Formats: sequence, C-alpha cells, structure tokens
Amino acid sequence: MPLNLLVFLGSTRDTTPPRPARLGMRVAQACTARLLEGGHSAVLIDPLDFDLSGPFKPHFSYAPGKAPEDLEALAQKIEAADGYVMVSPEYNHSMSPALSHLLNHFGSSLYSYKPSAIVTYSAGQWGGARAAVNMRTYLSELGCLPVSAMIHIPAAQEVFDESGEYQTGVDGARWDGYFERTLAQLAWWAEAAGHQRSQPGDTRPDAFQRDPSQRNAP
Ligand SMILES: Cc1cc2nc3c(=O)[nH]c(=O)nc-3n(C[C@H](O)[C@H](O)[C@H](O)COP(=O)(O)O)c2cc1C
Repeated sequence: MPLNLLVFLGSTRDTTPPRPARLGMRVAQACTARLLEGGHSAVLIDPLDFDLSGPFKPHFSYAPGKAPEDLEALAQKIEAADGYVMVSPEYNHSMSPALSHLLNHFGSSLYSYKPSAIVTYSAGQWGGARAAVNMRTYLSELGCLPVSAMIHIPAAQEVFDESGEYQTGVDGARWDGYFERTLAQLAWWAEAAGHQRSQPGDTRPDAFQRDPSQRNAP
C-alpha cells in the first residue's frame, strides 16, 4: 500500500571542517529514493527550510491558525503522514540538536500512533550507533515509536556521493538489503497503524492539548 512518509534530515552544518559538510543530505536522499522506489510518497524535510532562529516558540504555543506559515505547513504534513524516517548524525554521542530542535516544535499528538525508523551516520567508524540508542527514548516520548531495525552508516562519505548514489566500488546490493529491512518494518507498521487509526470507534486516549502534566499520573 502506498504510504505518505516524511524523511527528516538532522543536518544543518553547512560549514567545514570537519569534511564533508552536510553528510546527512546524502543519507536522507538515499532514504527518500528507496521509499519512492517502493511506491510510497516520501518528502525530505530539511531544517534549513525553516526559520527557527529567535526564542523557541513551538507550533502548539501559538493560537490556532496563528503560527508562522512554514511551521503550520509542516504541522499539517506531520499530521497527515503515516510514518517518519529520522536521519541523524552523531554529535558527541547524541542525536542531532538540529533534528530534535525541529521536531520539538510540534506536539506529540501530531506524531503519535505512527512508526518511525532511525537512520544514523557518521564520518567515522561507529555510524552513529550511540546517538541511535537515545533516539529510541526520544522518539518513543514523541509518540512515533521506532521500529526495531535501525540503519547505521559508518564513513557515510565513502558509501554515498553528493546525490545519495553509491560511490564507485561500494557493494550496493548489500547496502540495499540492509536498508530494506528497516524500511520494510516501517512500511509494515505504518500500514498496520493506519488501518487501526481508520477504524470506527477510535480507542486512542486523548492527546495532551497543553502540556505533559495532563498525563494524570497519581
Ligand atoms: C559537534 C560535532 C560532534 C561530533 N561528534 C561525533 C561523535 O560523537 N561521533 C562520531 O562518530 N562523529 C562525530 N562527529 C563527526 C560527524 O560524524 C561528521 O562530522 C558528520 O559529517 C556529521 O554529519 P553532518 O555533516 O551531516 O553534520 C561530530 C561532528 C561535530 C561537528
């Protein structure tokens, strides 16, 4: 079933060193291409397309309809999506602050009851595996539970060129199989969750409308 998926890029670093800049764009392009090849709609969300300067004011802090246009448009895309691919570099063993900053602009009600896939990369040898571990916690709190398989890409600049195509000499079939496992899990869960969301007599508990204190913990 064709799904509506968003690929969030967690890279805004357009400066060097370290080289190359915006390595994540290669990885996000590779993810987007694979989803499109799978017959899905996949839109790459680039944090540089949003003006997030100035004091932090999330989308849900504005009166209805009063948020800046770019935030409003992205809120609608997040709400309409069936699932998300989260592409993050590893910065000091943590997920990209650019990614969490962008995602934090939207309430969990927009992401909830849809799956996510964690894709990390690095210029070095660990492929962002340590960042991926804390992304599980983060994405779970956001409501878009990560699927169990993950993609980690060490030395991503040696795997993908600037267009997200394999570099010469890379064993593409092997990488394709590795990507496929995670993206197929994402598609399976996205379809299952979409089916459940469309059932009459929705049993989802109410989302927090103001803040997490509505959790009602005793
Ligand atoms: C602030 C900063 C922290 C970094 N921390 C790590 C790290 O903890 N582990 C790692 O493998 N690479 C680390 N790197 C190297 C990145 O993997 C590499 O610069 C990569 O290109 C970052 O992705 P980007 O180009 O999309 O920003 C770090 C880079 C920066 C700029």
